[in-house]
Amino acid sequence: MTVAGARAPDGGVTDGQVLEVRGLTKHYDSPDGERLLVVDVPRFQMAAGEHVGLRGPSGSGKTTFLNLLAGILQADAGEVRIDGRPMTGIGEAERDRLRAERLGYVFQTFNLLHGYTALENVELGMMFGPGIDSAYARELLDRVGLAHRLDYRPRQLSVGQQQRVAVARALANRPRLVLADEPTGNLDRRHAMEALDLMRAVCREHGAALLLVSHDPEVLSHFERVDDLSVLNRAAQGTVSAPGAGGRA
Ligand SMILES: Nc1ncnc2c1ncn2[C@@H]1O[C@H](COP(=O)(O)OP(=O)(O)OP(=O)(O)O)[C@@H](O)[C@H]1O
Ligand SMILES: [Mg+2]
Repeated sequence: MTVAGARAPDGGVTDGQVLEVRGLTKHYDSPDGERLLVVDVPRFQMAAGEHVGLRGPSGSGKTTFLNLLAGILQADAGEVRIDGRPMTGIGEAERDRLRAERLGYVFQTFNLLHGYTALENVELGMMFGPGIDSAYARELLDRVGLAHRLDYRPRQLSVGQQQRVAVARALANRPRLVLADEPTGNLDRRHAMEALDLMRAVCREHGAALLLVSHDPEVLSHFERVDDLSVLNRAAQGTVSAPGAGGRA
């Protein structure tokens, strides 16, 4: 846990916020050559260890916003700070390094590497961070209930099991912040709730903050703080259907 105004171990200055966003904008080129503003978020922040649910109609920019936070997409303007360290205004190699050190990302489609086993998928996530720690990778897979599936490849796993490998991989580098883009979208009700509980518990155990995108009111009801991107994102105001109307089951 960080304290107000403390200096993080690596020299970054933090005021207890794991994530700070200011004046963040992103345009896309439409197929007919028009430049469209899709993200315009004046301010967004999360405290260390905080869990936040993020909702918003389809097309309100949720995935784009997470990709900007993770430095997978480059912002046109504005600032993203992770643990006080700038993710914006730096080169791609530095963004990759900061992402590997500080962030975990659970993609909606998991993005597991199909040629590798569950254990190798988690270990590979460590290569770009502090280095491979096989014992910790096994511990994480055990924690998500996959100790008996270490040597299975993604195609030999059920959808729910693949999702759990993706959660273990997102936690592999002991991130400060985990981003999850509709991680329960492909799961049935029971598995969705199990996956959510697991993700929240493992993040809590590791002191990681969690920003989880979902359309599902039951998933969101588990979060004390739920933000709506169609409100936060000025580019989405008035351009998408009314909040709640765009939800997919
Ligand atoms: N590569 C791209 N080029 C042009 N426009 C894009 C591109 N990617 C996304 N968009 C547009 O940006 C807007 C936001 O897309 P985004 O994927 O962030 O929405 P979302 O809120 O995640 O939606 P969903 O709930 O359906 O996943 C959409 O209108 C989309 O058409
Ligand atoms: Mg999306």
